Amino acid sequence: MSKKTVLTGITTTGTPHVGNYLGAIKPAIDASTNPDFSSFYFLADYHALIKCHDPERVARSSREIAATWLALGLDTDKTTFYRQSDIHEIPELTWILTCMCSKGLMNRAHAYKASVDANRDAGKQDLDDGVTMGLFSYPILMAADILMFNADIIPVGKDQIQHIEMARDVAGRFNHTYEQLFTLPEALVDEQTQLIPGLDGRKMSKSYDNTIPLFCSADELRKLINQIVTDTKAPGEPKDPDNSTLFQLYSCFAEEAEQQQMRDKFLNGIGWGDAKKELFEFMDAKLSAPRALYNELMASPADVEAILEKGAAKARETSAPLLEKVRIAAGIRPLTHVATAAKEEKKKKEVSEEALARAEAGRRRAILMQLKPQLDEVQAADDKSAAAQALISSKEEEVAGLKKKAKQKAQNELDLLREELADLLA
Ligand code: TRP
Repeated sequence: MSKKTVLTGITTTGTPHVGNYLGAIKPAIDASTNPDFSSFYFLADYHALIKCHDPERVARSSREIAATWLALGLDTDKTTFYRQSDIHEIPELTWILTCMCSKGLMNRAHAYKASVDANRDAGKQDLDDGVTMGLFSYPILMAADILMFNADIIPVGKDQIQHIEMARDVAGRFNHTYEQLFTLPEALVDEQTQLIPGLDGRKMSKSYDNTIPLFCSADELRKLINQIVTDTKAPGEPKDPDNSTLFQLYSCFAEEAEQQQMRDKFLNGIGWGDAKKELFEFMDAKLSAPRALYNELMASPADVEAILEKGAAKARETSAPLLEKVRIAAGIRPLTHVATAAKEEKKKKEVSEEALARAEAGRRRAILMQLKPQLDEVQAADDKSAAAQALISSKEEEVAGLKKKAKQKAQNELDLLREELADLLA
């Protein structure tokens, strides 16, 4: 069985936080070490332009996200790690797919509908106010990201499921219209992803402003953990671990046995201050080594750039030949291009003509072998011409007197004799 391809993109608009790490980065890095998969992970910087028009932020985020994945141990020999904008085939494919995508499908995209709803709620005349074509057709760019590498499995958050379905839709339409070139991808949603709580107990998310940056300094980490919302239970009072953000965050980083120990401490009434201190020390111990590496990588952008460029070259080994096929299938071809189908048809015809000629030559040889004694007699005769004429006449008579099938056989012989003796008969 061939390997399944896993692919996912990270939009470069922010700084990776603990929720990103636990929900997406860690599972992706784990999957990249699984020999049953080949993995493609990329910085989705063209996606960043959809919602962020601050160039410094987009550029900085690309640097931070690349450094984060590498600092966490992503092995770029085992995976293909690249920057979307380095793969020129992706925007090209985007256009071809744009022409395979009905506008109605895009009208139904959640992100676009949310903008329209917001405009309606705000009583705006123009329901498309503030909607760029980038936002509107962004699912097509995402489809191109995925289809460009014929990915099978796309690990994403729930909010992205619709986009994977749209990618399937567009792939199906292309396959049907032109040629079966694309794999239909499937979304893989890890329920766990939704459960990482932020400082206020809600899902950790940039939009709630409740995140813990993954590689903030130890001091910052301590400060943020101290801000985590708790209830008013006093030290000594038993605490419910399952309703505690502190415990949940701890669990995300802890082994089974460590979780159990902390659970016991909660049930035995650990004070919130002590719980925060333990969480800080625990997380800091886990994060300090990759944090140091992250800081090093952030200080050496040329090294990271080289890694990304190598990744792009590797990615293009897949994307360039596939785009070539896609273009040809759609009719974007050099003028000298001979369609594969026509090429094959021609080859088949040549082959069958050659085979026919060979069969014909064989048949001739077989008949001539039988006629050889008669031909030899002609050659041995004193009057070769008369002998030839006599042989032909007798064959003619034979043909005339025979039934259909035998007649055909004799006719063949007659034809061949005429050919062989042509000189003498003239
Ligand atoms: N749109 C995705 C997000 O916001 C990021 C992304 C871009 C992506 N291209 C992708 C994810 C392709 C999976 C596959 O999270």
